[in-house]
Amino acid sequence: MKCRCGRKAVFHSRVYRITLCDECFPKFYVNLVKRSIKRYGILKSSEKILVCVSGGKDSTAMAYALNELDYNIELFHIDLGIGNYSKESLKAVEELAQTLNLNLNVVKLEDYGFTIDDVESKKVCSACGIVKRYIMNRFARERGFDVIATAHTCEDIILFFIKNVLSGNVEYISKLSPRIDGFDKLVAKAKPLFERTEKENATLVLTLNLPFTPMECPHAPNDIWKEIIYEIEAKRRGFKQNFVRGIVKLAKSVKAEEWEVKHCKICGEVSNFEICSFCKIVERYSRKNR
Ligand code: AMP
Ligand code: FES
Ligand code: ZN
Repeated sequence: MKCRCGRKAVFHSRVYRITLCDECFPKFYVNLVKRSIKRYGILKSSEKILVCVSGGKDSTAMAYALNELDYNIELFHIDLGIGNYSKESLKAVEELAQTLNLNLNVVKLEDYGFTIDDVESKKVCSACGIVKRYIMNRFARERGFDVIATAHTCEDIILFFIKNVLSGNVEYISKLSPRIDGFDKLVAKAKPLFERTEKENATLVLTLNLPFTPMECPHAPNDIWKEIIYEIEAKRRGFKQNFVRGIVKLAKSVKAEEWEVKHCKICGEVSNFEICSFCKIVERYSRKNR
C-alpha cells in the first residue's frame, strides 16, 4: 500500500479512510492531538505542563506530540521500584528526555521507605494508582506546574467507564473528562490522548524510533474487557473513538460525588478522610514502620 504522497505506507486506517507513510503519519498524528486539545479545551498555551511519562509507548507519543506543538513542558517520571520493569522504564524516559531535549524530573518511591513490590499482591494496583496520583499532584503544585498531563488512551477511558458502570460507581464517570480543573490543593488534570488509540501511539513511536520500553508491568492483570473492546472494534470500525466521545459528553453531565474537602492530618494534602490514602500506605509499608 502507498501513502497519498507515493511513499511506502506505515499506517492504514479504515476509520479515517487514510493510508500514510513514515513522514506523513507523524504530522497527521500531531494534528489529531492538536484538534482534540482545541475542541475540548484540554490545554492552554500559557500553561506550564507536567508531562507524566511511564516509559511506555502511549506517554512517549504524548511527550513527542506536545513538544511538537510547542507547549511549555517538562517530563515527570515516578520510579515505582518494580524490579527490572522500573529499571527499563527509567532508562527509556532518560533516553526520551535526551532525544527531545526536555527536562526530566524523577521521584523515587524508595525515598518514602517502600516500593510497589513491597505491597501485597491483592492491593498492588490500587495502591500504585493512589501513589502515582498523590506524587504527581504534590510535585506539580510544589514546582509551580499549572496542569498534569497523562497519556490515557481511548481504550483506558472505555475500560474505566465499563468497570465503574458495572460496579455502580456512576458518579466516577465525571472523572473521565479530558480536562479537570484544579481546586484547593489539587492541580488541573489533562488527557490529551483521550481520542487516540494504542495502535496509533505504537505506530508513532515505532515510526520515529522514539525510545520506549515494550515491557508491561508484571502486576498488570490480564484484562478480558480489553479483549472484548478489541473484538467489538473489529466488527464495528470506529466503535472505540465514537464510544469515547459519547462517554466524554456523559462525563460533563454526571454530577461528581459531593464530598467535604478535608486535609490530611499528616501531610496536609487534600483527602476524604482524616488521614489520606497515601499516608496510610506509607504508614503500612514503609520500612521504618515494619
Ligand atoms: P496507568 O495508571 O498505568 O494506566 O497510566 C496512566 C498514565 O499515567 C500514563 O499514560 C502516564 O502518562 C502516567 N504514568 C504511568 N506510570 C507512570 C510513572 N511511573 N511515572 C510517571 N507517569 C506515569
Ligand atoms: Fe502500578 Fe503496575 S504500574 S502496579
Ligand atoms: Zn497524607
